[in-house]
Amino acid sequence: MPSTLQKRLLDQPYQGYAYAYPHKMAYRHFPDPIPLQEVWRDEDKSSLYLYVHLPFCEMRCGFCNLFTTTNPKDDLVSRYLKAVDLQLASTGEALGDSMRFSRGAFGGGTPSFLSVDELNALFESINRHLGPTPAGMPASFELSPATVTKEKLQLLKARGITRLSIGVQSFLHEETKVLGRPQSIPQVHDTLTLMRQAGFPVMNIDLIYGAEIQTPESWVESIRMALKYQPEELYLYPLYVRPLTGLEKIGRTPADHRLELFRAGRDYLRENGYRQISMRLFRKESAPDENDSLEGPVYCCQEDGMVGIGAGARSYTNDIHYCTEYAVGRSGIQEIIDDYIGRSRDDHSHAVFGCRLSEEEQRRRFIMKSLLRAEGLSFADYDSQFNGALLSDFPELLDLKTEGLASLSDLKIELNDAGIERSDTIGPWLFSTEMTTRMEHYELT
Ligand SMILES: C[S@@+](CC[C@H](N)C(=O)[O-])C[C@H]1O[C@@H](n2cnc3c(N)ncnc32)[C@H](O)[C@@H]1O
Ligand code: SF4
Repeated sequence: MPSTLQKRLLDQPYQGYAYAYPHKMAYRHFPDPIPLQEVWRDEDKSSLYLYVHLPFCEMRCGFCNLFTTTNPKDDLVSRYLKAVDLQLASTGEALGDSMRFSRGAFGGGTPSFLSVDELNALFESINRHLGPTPAGMPASFELSPATVTKEKLQLLKARGITRLSIGVQSFLHEETKVLGRPQSIPQVHDTLTLMRQAGFPVMNIDLIYGAEIQTPESWVESIRMALKYQPEELYLYPLYVRPLTGLEKIGRTPADHRLELFRAGRDYLRENGYRQISMRLFRKESAPDENDSLEGPVYCCQEDGMVGIGAGARSYTNDIHYCTEYAVGRSGIQEIIDDYIGRSRDDHSHAVFGCRLSEEEQRRRFIMKSLLRAEGLSFADYDSQFNGALLSDFPELLDLKTEGLASLSDLKIELNDAGIERSDTIGPWLFSTEMTTRMEHYELT
């Protein structure tokens, strides 16, 4: 009988992105709201991660299923920032005096959609309720090409942002058109020049591969253009066409040759001084390791001890993950934002929607987060975290070696190139049956 991994390997490689297990579609309403004080009581609060979600964009890209809305009417952004202030006050109170932050990220949506005044108001709120953050604390901020100005970059620098991340997707007009991403290529170049000149320690560029018309040559051409700006990091995202997105509505499908595109991009980056950190993330050899980024904002990987602020932001303790409700369609998202804006300080002081992680789920999450990175999964790290032997707890991991996807030493299990490129097969294979079933039954709006 073939193992479940063997069966999965017969299917196409892109089966799901395991960046933030469990996915929000596995979340449900808690039987009773849980006071945040209780949620965070036993958590180590000496090194927390602050994530602020800003669900506004100047456009809705055809491929994007992130929690965001476009062209907010009237004073929606300022009302949203008032709600953020209220949530920060309530969260700061619940976490108490022992809270200390050591990393931060602003994601979305497009945080740079905010005006200079709005950004200043946001940073003031954070300082007021969470206290000053340590100097030099790694803090990441997402931008889109059309929303960046010199003034905003100066402000971000003055406020301690250390990493800028921008979505470019492709440098070729025909490809961005097919992806449903309206974008002026000359403006992309102007913005990247401004960003580089602004002197932030880390700059990241997101690119997407898998548009039907893309060839290995045109894909490498986009990466070559990105490298002109010497970004410390590059995220290469395989195109997924997800439910309720613009591309799905018009019946587009991703190209069949995504794996071929991936390999062409990976090889080009390796030849040009970048090392692979995970399937999606590449880092310049000379860039410091410390600036370990989110694996996506929300598309992006995450740690325990994360305090999420804003509609759509997740928070994680060891055993409780929570956020506002989840939607992809415009009206569903608008409803959730309206509900968020209408919340009282007391409403913000409880977790209402999320997921409790059993010890087994915590182990699975740990395995995914370590195994899907090039450095691999250390037996000692697993043991010190869970007081157990990895291969006795999860003997199915040995299938990775049998299938030629990983090597095994006394110290760790490490995916090889064949394994890393199948990360989006291995990730979903590691999901528990319970979480897979919950995700399948989620009613997406
Ligand atoms: C929050 S955005 C980045 C910042 C900004 N909003 C922008 O688009 O320029 C997150 C990134 O996720 C990636 N992404 C989103 N949806 C995707 C999909 N369906 N397939 C592949 N990549 C996707 C894109 O590369 C995008 O830049
Ligand atoms: S890709 Fe970025 S700009 Fe486009 S809709 Fe998603 S978050 Fe907004």
